[in-house]
Amino acid sequence: MTGIMKPRKAIFPVAGLGTRFLPATKANPKEMLPIVDKPLIQYAVEEAISAGFTDLIFVTSSSKRAIEDHFDKNFELECRLIETQKHELLSIVQNILPKGVNCAYIRQPETLGLGHAVLCARPLINGEAFAVLLADDLISTASSNCLGNMLTVFNQTQTSILAVEHIKREDSQKYGVIDTGTQDATATSNPVKITAIVEKPLPQDAPSSFGVVGRYIFTPDIFSCLEKTAQGAGGEIQLTDAIALLLKKQCVNAMIIPSKRYDCGSKLGYLEATIAFGLAHPELNSDFAALLKHYVSQL
Ligand code: G1P
Repeated sequence: MTGIMKPRKAIFPVAGLGTRFLPATKANPKEMLPIVDKPLIQYAVEEAISAGFTDLIFVTSSSKRAIEDHFDKNFELECRLIETQKHELLSIVQNILPKGVNCAYIRQPETLGLGHAVLCARPLINGEAFAVLLADDLISTASSNCLGNMLTVFNQTQTSILAVEHIKREDSQKYGVIDTGTQDATATSNPVKITAIVEKPLPQDAPSSFGVVGRYIFTPDIFSCLEKTAQGAGGEIQLTDAIALLLKKQCVNAMIIPSKRYDCGSKLGYLEATIAFGLAHPELNSDFAALLKHYVSQL
């Protein structure tokens, strides 16, 4: 790769089974679960687009067709909304994707892990730098765009970068956990160089209390590392293990996320996001707050 890398492509691995939300996810992709009135995947897509990414690559599986439909035109619905003069709703469905944004879909034939899903997208990346967003991790863009901040750093450093947040040590088995060596990882030292990374370590083995959040920007060199990555935690090909290989060749930075992240892969995190986004929703806020107060008063 020569010249300055300007990432424009973003991968959304969406082939996972979503077993933590069964039966809701038996026939529906977990990424289509709504937070108030938008599916999770749309929040991630909006974050990527507002950060400047224009080519969206979804790594899907057979049960994920609803995602393709969501980002496609729906003539029947649009005609109906025109006939019934529901202009506001028409504008919502017509503007899910702005002009100039392209979507591509590629299949992950077997659920062999996040690393494998990213590797499946390689034919569409064409040797460029790219982002990866996990839609389960919902990060509010109200005050700051997490991926946008990472892209600014990437454009300056031309080295891979991933997002982290402070986690409780006892939760280390849910995350990739980074080591920053002797550097002090604080919001003011953002970004910080990673010296090691390990997927879902036991609390006593966790190298720090910084867990990886599902936002990454990679140089294309991650692919050769993914190719060499064997099955790791949970018997899956882990992106974290490929990052550990990449670290042997290149610098990888970590950036502490600028706003709260909601773990919408868990029921509690999903409910918390629903409360936070419901309270912030212009149509609902005061009515929803009154409703919440009522329930809280009964606890
Ligand atoms: C994946 C990654 C993990 C990361 C997490 C963030 O795990 O493997 O390193 O910390 O996403 O959400 P998963 O949540 O798919 O188990």
